[in-house]
Amino acid sequence: MSDQAIRLVVLVSGSGTNLQSLLDAVADESYGAVIVAVGADRDGIEGLARAERAGVPTFVERVRDHSDRAAWDEAIAARIAAHKPDLVICAGFMRILGAPTLSAFPVVNTHPALLPAFPGAHGVRDALAYGVRVTGCTVMFADAGVDTGPIIAQETVRVYDGDDEDTLHERIKTVERGLLVETVGRMAREGWTVTGRNVRLGSRTRGDGEPGRTTK
Ligand code: GRF
Repeated sequence: MSDQAIRLVVLVSGSGTNLQSLLDAVADESYGAVIVAVGADRDGIEGLARAERAGVPTFVERVRDHSDRAAWDEAIAARIAAHKPDLVICAGFMRILGAPTLSAFPVVNTHPALLPAFPGAHGVRDALAYGVRVTGCTVMFADAGVDTGPIIAQETVRVYDGDDEDTLHERIKTVERGLLVETVGRMAREGWTVTGRNVRLGSRTRGDGEPGRTTK
C-alpha cells in the first residue's frame, strides 16, 4: 500500500459490478486509493463475494437486526469508522445513510440518471417512462436527501428505440463504472473542493494531509 493512497470503504447492496471496477482499479498502485473494507446492508450478495475473492475485509449491517433506523445508522457508522476511511463510496448501496456516517466522512454515491432528473430507486425506469432521448449517470456526494448532494461528475447515454429498463440500465452501467473509477481516482490523487453545490477536483498537492475540503 502506497503511503499516500487514500483509504476507501465501499458499500454495496447487489451485484457489485461498480465495486468490481474499483477493485480492478486499485490493483494498480498509481490509482492512489486502496479499498480497506466492503460493507453491505444484506448478506448473500455477489458484491460481498467479489470483495472476498479480492481478499478485502467485509461487514454486513442489516436494518432489521436493529431496534430502529437510528440504531442502524449508529451501527453502520461504527462499522465504517473501524476501517478509518478517508472516503466512503456507495456503489449500488440502496440505503440512505444517516447523520452518524454523513457527519463523519465524505460519502460519494453513484446514480443511473442525470440528476437532478429522476432521483430515487427507479431512475432508469422513470427516465424511460418520461420519454427522454438522453439520460446517463451521476457521481455525487451523498447528503441527507435522496440523490440531492453536490454533483461531482456526469456522463450522458443515449436512449434507443426499443430500449427497456434492463437494456438501458446495462448500457448506463458500462458508462457509470468508468465514470466512478475515473472520478474516485481523481479525488484520491488530486483532492477536491466543495463550495456550496459546486465541486471542483484538483488543487491538492499529494500528501498535504486532508484528502478533501469543504467550504460552505
Ligand atoms: C448502479 O446502476 C447504481 O447506480 C444503482 O444500482 C446499480 C448497481 O449496480 N443504484 P452494481 O451493483 O454495481 O452492479
